[in-house]
Amino acid sequence: MTNVLAELAERRAQARLGGGQARIDKQHAKGKLTARERLDVLLDDGSFEEYDMYKTHRCTDFGMQENRPPGDGVVTGWGTINGRQVYVFSQDFTVFGGSLSETHAEKICKVMDLAVQNGVPLIGLNDSGGARIQEGVASLGGYAEVFWRNVQASGVIPQISVVMGPCAGGAVYSPAMTDFIFMVKDTSHMFVTGPDVVKTVTNEIVSAEELGGAGTHTKTSSVADGAFENDMEALFEVRRLFDFLPLSNRSEVPQRNTNDRYDRQSLALDTLVPSDPTKPYDMKEAIHAIADDGDFFEIQKDFASNILCGYIRLNGDTIGVVANQPKVLAGCLDINSARKAARFVRFCDAFNIPLLTLVDVPGFLPGTAQEYGGIIKHGAKLLFAFAEATVPKVTVILRKAYGGAYDVMSSKHIRADVNYAWPSAEIAVMGAKGATEILYRSELDNPEKIAKRTSDYEERFANPFIAAQRGFIDEVIQPHSTRRRICRSFELLKSKQEVRPTRKHDNIPL
Ligand code: HXC
Repeated sequence: MTNVLAELAERRAQARLGGGQARIDKQHAKGKLTARERLDVLLDDGSFEEYDMYKTHRCTDFGMQENRPPGDGVVTGWGTINGRQVYVFSQDFTVFGGSLSETHAEKICKVMDLAVQNGVPLIGLNDSGGARIQEGVASLGGYAEVFWRNVQASGVIPQISVVMGPCAGGAVYSPAMTDFIFMVKDTSHMFVTGPDVVKTVTNEIVSAEELGGAGTHTKTSSVADGAFENDMEALFEVRRLFDFLPLSNRSEVPQRNTNDRYDRQSLALDTLVPSDPTKPYDMKEAIHAIADDGDFFEIQKDFASNILCGYIRLNGDTIGVVANQPKVLAGCLDINSARKAARFVRFCDAFNIPLLTLVDVPGFLPGTAQEYGGIIKHGAKLLFAFAEATVPKVTVILRKAYGGAYDVMSSKHIRADVNYAWPSAEIAVMGAKGATEILYRSELDNPEKIAKRTSDYEERFANPFIAAQRGFIDEVIQPHSTRRRICRSFELLKSKQEVRPTRKHDNIPL
């Protein structure tokens, strides 16, 4: 018995060494943790159960039969994050550059299948040179098996990708089909074709960082949802996000105990909106004031920041927040903000996360760039997403809700459940100045007359009461009581049931 125990210990030790100490040192020298160190940070202490530690590749080309490291470049299994289960895989760059062989893919597919079967999220830590070059098409087949499972799992379990090294070529499409992508600054890259191919084909000279670094993907392309300073920070933040998410579409949102009373008043909200309607303010102040303990996990904070998306808790329950940000582009909706928020709303709806919408929107951003870029189709994404969402939906209009953007931002008409407005709300077809300039074009050369017309229009429409008279707004509330009002609404809406027509799937304008 002692012998076999010793052999087991020896085999485990060998597997844990991956590609060997020299390559581990190289990984550290780049400022990166190893695959196993990453799992140590991500998961609760001692919770990791590894599968397929001894699995090896089957390749015999290029002398590969002489080199069969146990584990084949990916560490897989499950563990817990703050006590809640999660399946994981973590690619080991020290073994053939973390490249994906047929067997490496089989290991990933095994945990994906179990995650879907058991209704548990999947987190993938990606650090890979892509397809295992020695295996050719067997590797491509392996990728496609992973892709297929990504699609089957979509909307069933949350899937999170953390890109912590290279991720290139077709390999990018697995993270791309997951719900969230996080990247590490300076050490991670994602591109379909790398700088060398780009140079050959288009003559463009671009560094890997500029082409597909964390900055590019969180600020320009919006491929990634967050960029972090180093491996540790990325993994801690993934733990933080995980705490907000349900385990699957079959489970409720997680509950976290809080000492923050649901009826806590926020007097600061009474003075948040400036009396001058052209003056900006920071919508984040409203979100922090409303949330349990001021805790807000923001998604895509560096992209389209004219809209804010992220998670808070209200009375312990996770809530998805979508909010116009008057500080950026006056809170206008445009192509990027509509795409960003639509995807966020659809994730929340798929996973039973109720939606809080905070509105201060002067309309859609005008201009040829927007029209040529397809704002019609992209704006429709957000309208579609809010309208199809059947989770509890509460909307608060803080200030402007003009034109089509009023309808889009989870209005009563597209079936929000509870619609509140602050007394400072202005719900109208457009701002008073624009409206009077159209209605009274013939008087434009008379500034006094126009000023009077504008103030008449403001008096008539720049308030929430016309909408409230029609029942489009359920109640005009005191800003300081917003938290209490929406907590009570969401509590009531827990028993919401909504039936929609049967169909194979809808056809959201992609
Ligand atoms: C096999 C690979 C590998 C790969 C790296 N290695 N990529 N082995 N298949 N794809 C091995 C190297 O031989 C080396 O082995 C070790 O990993 C570390 O690689 P280095 O080059 O020394 O590291 P570094 O300088 O950090 O460069 C990392 C890298 C580079 C940028 C990823 O290795 C690289 O360009 N690799 C090839 C990437 C690629 O073209 N992949 C195919 C993409 S197409 P030793 O023994 O020296 O440690 C693709 C299609 C997917 O992936 C399609 C899906 C549908």
